Amino acid sequence: MVESSGKNACVIGYPIKHSRSPRLHGFWLQHYGIEGCYAAESIAPEALPTFLDSLKKGTLIYCGGNATIPHKEAVLALADHADETAKVLGAANTYWVEDGALHVSNTDTYGFLGNLDDGAPDWDASKVSGAKTAIVLGAGGASRAIVYGLITRGFKSIILANRTVERAHALADHFSDLALANDCEIMPQSLPQAEAHLSQADLLVNTTSLGMVGQDDLVFSLDSIPRSAVVTDIVYTPLETDLLKQARANGNRTVDGLGMLLHQAVPGFEKWFGVRPEVTDALRNHVLQDL
Ligand code: ATR
Repeated sequence: MVESSGKNACVIGYPIKHSRSPRLHGFWLQHYGIEGCYAAESIAPEALPTFLDSLKKGTLIYCGGNATIPHKEAVLALADHADETAKVLGAANTYWVEDGALHVSNTDTYGFLGNLDDGAPDWDASKVSGAKTAIVLGAGGASRAIVYGLITRGFKSIILANRTVERAHALADHFSDLALANDCEIMPQSLPQAEAHLSQADLLVNTTSLGMVGQDDLVFSLDSIPRSAVVTDIVYTPLETDLLKQARANGNRTVDGLGMLLHQAVPGFEKWFGVRPEVTDALRNHVLQDL
């Protein structure tokens, strides 16, 4: 474990060596002149309860950190206090100790929304008095955080398209009460069906890993998307995916996925180190250099 006289945090995962979080938080620590470190700890699933126990007892150097695969559900299950988003999403990515208790949060929704607010201001206000429609590709963990964000931002129609349509149905069921309370309809579909509804879209989001370096391409034609629609992708390697390239060529506003990673890190850094950090071009370039 890394030693330092200041406050310290770490990302836990298994494996962990590909995490971008140490580079990201390391930039902010240096930028704000904070004495402390942000490390990466490889914690096997069976070692997680002991790690969190030691953290609560104050016998580790860390005051908190991030949790990534495969710990996001387990950290929530082992927490003493979880915020609303973590409970709704059934997973936590941020943890800290307060008065000997383990607190957890999920900042993925915050990161998704913050990225769009930053990269496409007013992206959620295109039809203030009408029904806003989003098309979301994918129905995994990332999709769950994004669908939650879209319901809270007033989207009235969410076309939720997935290769495995049953998974889209399960996700729609998960949010059925919240959607009803917010006058939002979630429509589970196949990917080709969603393509046919593209002319209704105010927002298109790819939440699948398709289009990422080393993965299959996302085959999805944007021919009928309205010019006013915003297109975003959670994939950030490459920074401009084929989907974003297609959207840019069409004249649509596009927002790449790197910003979601950067924005989701803000609340955790503030919690551990006491400074609310800013997402800047300098941070973006610093993280980009190592992608
Ligand atoms: P995450 O937590 O990052 O969202 P996940 O829960 O594994 O990861 O979800 C991955 C998403 O990408 C799913 O929607 C998955 O579709 P399935 O539910 O049908 O598996 C989608 N995905 C991954 N590979 C895909 C592929 N080759 N074609 C279509 N969709 C794919």
